[in-house]
Amino acid sequence: MVRYHRYDAVIVGAGGAGLSAALHASGAGRVAVLSKLYPTRSHTGTAQGGIGAALGNMEEDHWEWHMYDTVKGSDYLADQDAVEILCREAIDAVYELERMGLPFDRTPDGRIAQRRFGGHTREYGKAPVMRSCYAADRTGHMILQTLYQQCIKREVQFFNEYLVLDVLIHDGQACGVVAWNIQQGGLEVFHSKAVLFATGGCGRIYKVTSNAVSLTGDGMAVVFRRGIPLEDMEFYQFHPTGIYKMGILLSEAARGEGGILRNGLGERFMERYAPTIKDLAPRDIVSRAIYLEIREGRGVHGRDYVHLDLTHLGREVLEKKLPDITEFVRTYLGLDPARDLIPIQPTAHYAMGGIPTDVHGRVVVDAQNTPLPGLYAAGEVACVSVHGANRLGTNSLVDIVVFGRRAGKHMARFVQETDWPPLPPNPTELAEHLIAHFLRGGGTESVSRIRDELQTVMMEDASVFRTEASLRHAWDVLRGLRERYCRSGIQDKGQVFNLDLVEALELGFLLDCAEALVASALFRTESRGAHYREDYPQRDDVNWLRHTLAFRQDDGTIRLDTKPVVITRFMPQERKY
Ligand code: FUM
Repeated sequence: MVRYHRYDAVIVGAGGAGLSAALHASGAGRVAVLSKLYPTRSHTGTAQGGIGAALGNMEEDHWEWHMYDTVKGSDYLADQDAVEILCREAIDAVYELERMGLPFDRTPDGRIAQRRFGGHTREYGKAPVMRSCYAADRTGHMILQTLYQQCIKREVQFFNEYLVLDVLIHDGQACGVVAWNIQQGGLEVFHSKAVLFATGGCGRIYKVTSNAVSLTGDGMAVVFRRGIPLEDMEFYQFHPTGIYKMGILLSEAARGEGGILRNGLGERFMERYAPTIKDLAPRDIVSRAIYLEIREGRGVHGRDYVHLDLTHLGREVLEKKLPDITEFVRTYLGLDPARDLIPIQPTAHYAMGGIPTDVHGRVVVDAQNTPLPGLYAAGEVACVSVHGANRLGTNSLVDIVVFGRRAGKHMARFVQETDWPPLPPNPTELAEHLIAHFLRGGGTESVSRIRDELQTVMMEDASVFRTEASLRHAWDVLRGLRERYCRSGIQDKGQVFNLDLVEALELGFLLDCAEALVASALFRTESRGAHYREDYPQRDDVNWLRHTLAFRQDDGTIRLDTKPVVITRFMPQERKY
C-alpha cells in the first residue's frame, strides 16, 4: 500500500544546499526534507578547506575581485549576473553562519580567519589573496552541523533513508515526489506545492573519486527522465590532490598553507604552467599539468602519480590547520606528512553542470530560461551557472549557502501564493515500474559489474583529457551497459533495507548522468576549463561561448541545444596565471 504525505515544500537532499533552503522556507509552511542518509552524513560534511568570501580580515579584499577570479576561473562560461550575486552575498552568508554558531578559526583579534586557495587573487590576478574562511580542514562538517541544528529548531520534518525515484509534474507544475522507503520498504508519495532538489553530484560515475558512495546523480537523473534538460554536463572537475589510487581528498588548503607539488625529479613543476600563482592555479590547470608531467615521464618512479610536499609546513601547522588530512595520510598511507612526500593523483570531484536554474533556484526548462512552476534546485545538483567550465575551490560552499538560501526564500513566497496543485492520476506508475523490474523481474546481469565497467570507461575515456575517438568509445560502451542494465537483476527480493535494490536503482541514475556527460562532451568541439579536447585544444568563443543543454528523449536518445552565457562586467580574455 502506498503512503501519502502532504507538505507545502519538499526538499530532496540534506546537505548544505537542502538545509539552507529548508531553513529559509520553514517560516512559510510545513517543510519536509527527504534524505538517503542521516542528514549529518551528507557529503557537505566532507568539504575541507573553506568557504570563500571577501571579508578582508587578513588583507584587503573586495567582492569584485572575488567575482573576477570566479569568472576567469570558469574560463568565462559562468553567468556573470549569478556570479555577482554569489560573491556579494557570500559575505553576509558567512556572517549568518557565524551568528548561527559556526566555530570558524579565528585571527588573534577574534575575527574569522582566512587563508589562500586556488585561483583566488587580489587586484584582478596580481597575487594570491586570503579569502577562504575555515574551521581547520573540517569546514563542511561544521556548516552541516550548524544548519542541521537550526533546521531542528525550526521544526523542519526529516524523512531519513528515503530514495527519491520520481518528480511529479501535473499541468506544467511540480506537485511532489515519489520515494522508496529504504528502512521499511514501500513507495511513498509526498504531495507538495514546491519541490527542491539538492541531492549533490554524480562523482561515482568515475573510478577514482573524492565523492562518497551516495553521490550517484539521483536528482539530475530523476528530472532528466521527465524531459528537463541538464546543462553543461561536459564540465566535470578533477581535484588535483586525491590520495593515489584511493581518490580520498587532500584539501587544496594544504597548498593554501604553502604545500608544493613535485614531480618525480623533485621539481616544483607548477612554476612552468602558472608562473604567477604556481601551485594555487585553478584545478583544471593543475590537474592537466599533473597528467602532462606523468605522460612526459616525470611521474614519481615513472608511475602515474606525483608528490604533494608538506614537509616544510611544520607539525604545528599540520596539526592545527590541517588535522583531518594529516590523519588521512597517516591512516591510509602509513606516512607522516611532516616527514614524507605524499603520493597524489587528480580525483573526480565536482560536477559544474546540472539542473539549470535561475538566480532564485527555479528550474528552467529551455534555452529561453522558462521556469517550471514549483520546481527548484540548488547546490551541486544545479547549474545556476556560477562555476562555468571550472569551479574555484571554496565556491561550492558559497554556492550551497547563497543559492540554497535564495531558493528557500523564493519557495517560501511561492507556497504562500499558490493553491494546492492536484496530483497526476496514478502518481506512482513510473516508480512502481522501476521497483518491479528488480523485485519481481528475473534479470541476471550483475549490477556491480556494470557499475565497474561504467566507472572504468568514464575514467579512461571521459576524464581530464578527451578526444572524439575516446568519447565515441565511451558512448558505445555506455549504450552496451544500458542494454545490459535492462537485463540486470538482484538476488535480494526483500523490502527492508534492501541495499541491493538501492544500488541497482542508483546505477540507473549513474548511467543517465554518464550518457549526458559524454553526449555533451562530444558536442562541444573546443577546449574550455575542465573540458579538454585534445583534438580541439583551443577555446573557441565564436562558436562555443554558450551553455549546452542535453535533453533525454522518450526513445532514450539525447538531443542537444545551447543557450547564451550572461556577460555583464568581464569580457572573455586569454586565461593566464
Ligand atoms: O580542497 C578542498 O578543500 C576542496 C574544496 C572545494 O572543493 O571547494
